[in-house]
Amino acid sequence: MSEKIRVLIPEEDVNKKISEVAAQISRDYEGRSVHLVCILKGGVFFTCELAKRLSVPVTLDFMSVSSYGAGTESSGVVRIVKDLDEPLKGREVLIVEDIIDSGRTLAYLIEILKQREPAGIRLCTLLDKPQRRVKKQVKVDYTCFSIPDEFVVGYGLDYDQKYRNLPYIGVVEF
Ligand code: IMP
Ligand code: MG
Repeated sequence: MSEKIRVLIPEEDVNKKISEVAAQISRDYEGRSVHLVCILKGGVFFTCELAKRLSVPVTLDFMSVSSYGAGTESSGVVRIVKDLDEPLKGREVLIVEDIIDSGRTLAYLIEILKQREPAGIRLCTLLDKPQRRVKKQVKVDYTCFSIPDEFVVGYGLDYDQKYRNLPYIGVVEF
């Protein structure tokens, strides 16, 4: 393994931005509770940092999905590896993702979760690669950073299951 990691977004910048987005979410959900649905594994670091900064009441649940198909392109058919523990009916759901790339995973997931009759469903992502979007209908309500089409790691994102624990966003250089 000879890959190197170049810092793209330093830790201070990530944390500052998460605080700003958390303040916006807290304003938008004022007077209500928000039910965070963390998409494992990548979303877990962002979910924790975001949740700590919200001033509205928060509940949390976790879901793990895997996209059928090999290689780096997701197929858009999602298999639920670990489902949520609790029902969504009547809840204000905020899906928390690490990155939206083609949007295939989220397009499929949102359809599944809507069938569970939440009061509302919004999407929050740490990173977005808008140039890569295939599923244009995926509307992202809260984005921390839009980034160019480069493969990134850190803050939950992995390359071959490594580098999730980096406290910054880095680009993998091979
Ligand atoms: P989508 O269905 O194409 O939007 O796939 C999104 C998923 O692909 C994310 O949840 C990540 O697991 C993965 N992914 C996309 N881009 C990157 C990247 O730059 N680094 C690490 N994982 C990525
Ligand atoms: Mg993911």
